[in-house]
Amino acid sequence: KDRGEIRVHENLEELSIDLVDYIAEISEASIKEHGAFCIVLSGGSLISFMGKLIEPPYDKIVDWAKWYVFWADERVVAKNHDDSNYKLAKDNLLSKVNVFPRHICSINDTVSAEEAATEYEFAIRQMVRSRTVAASDNSDSPRFDLILLGMGSDGHVASLFPNHPALEVKDDWVTFLTDSHKPPPERITFTLPVINSAANVVVVATGESKANAIHLAIDDLPLPDSSLSLPARLVHPSNGNLIWFMDKQAGSKLDRF
Ligand code: 6PG
Repeated sequence: KDRGEIRVHENLEELSIDLVDYIAEISEASIKEHGAFCIVLSGGSLISFMGKLIEPPYDKIVDWAKWYVFWADERVVAKNHDDSNYKLAKDNLLSKVNVFPRHICSINDTVSAEEAATEYEFAIRQMVRSRTVAASDNSDSPRFDLILLGMGSDGHVASLFPNHPALEVKDDWVTFLTDSHKPPPERITFTLPVINSAANVVVVATGESKANAIHLAIDDLPLPDSSLSLPARLVHPSNGNLIWFMDKQAGSKLDRF
């Protein structure tokens, strides 16, 4: 089974250079192809590896004015709350570029998690209708240019946690949870069909604590605890590319390492 391309880096510096090169390349290709770059971010350490995008030469190469920014998952908190992925990305990345991205999605925290999920999906459906976001050819899903995911040591991606019912959602693009294993508890998240319909999906994992989940997600072997699912293993774009970016600590248990 094809588990995608694996890039193991010597250190975090090399990882972030390679990641930022890749993002700049997909950004350019997407803008050439359809005039926009629809990029999906996640929370956690991922944003810290993207910092070079606001430094030379990337700050000038990247056509920020054509960026549309989305979230693979978001915490149901105010936009200026420290737990907000929006705030994290804005403070550390998006507000530092001289040309602001064309559009940054944000959620309405005055409603319930369920309503926030419905509103976010509605907003994306509008953007598919207006052809800002591409539509998938073979499913009722958006086809984002690039979805960037982090991964937890339990193998969660976005806010899709092992054995959680959110993993089973097939008919919605966005679902919600009020019992996230990782705080804060209230979150909205893309579902697997949306992740697996993207043109390009990247999983970034670093550090020793991720080594086991990386091994289980990538190497073709039965899960040690068959009653526990591993969301990262369920990431396989049906008509797109998958790349795993990791440091050697996270890659240390891979069979081929
Ligand atoms: C979130 C996430 C989550 C994150 C992983 C990895 O909002 O919490 O999107 O899926 O990416 O938990 O986080 P770290 O990179 O910080 O370990």
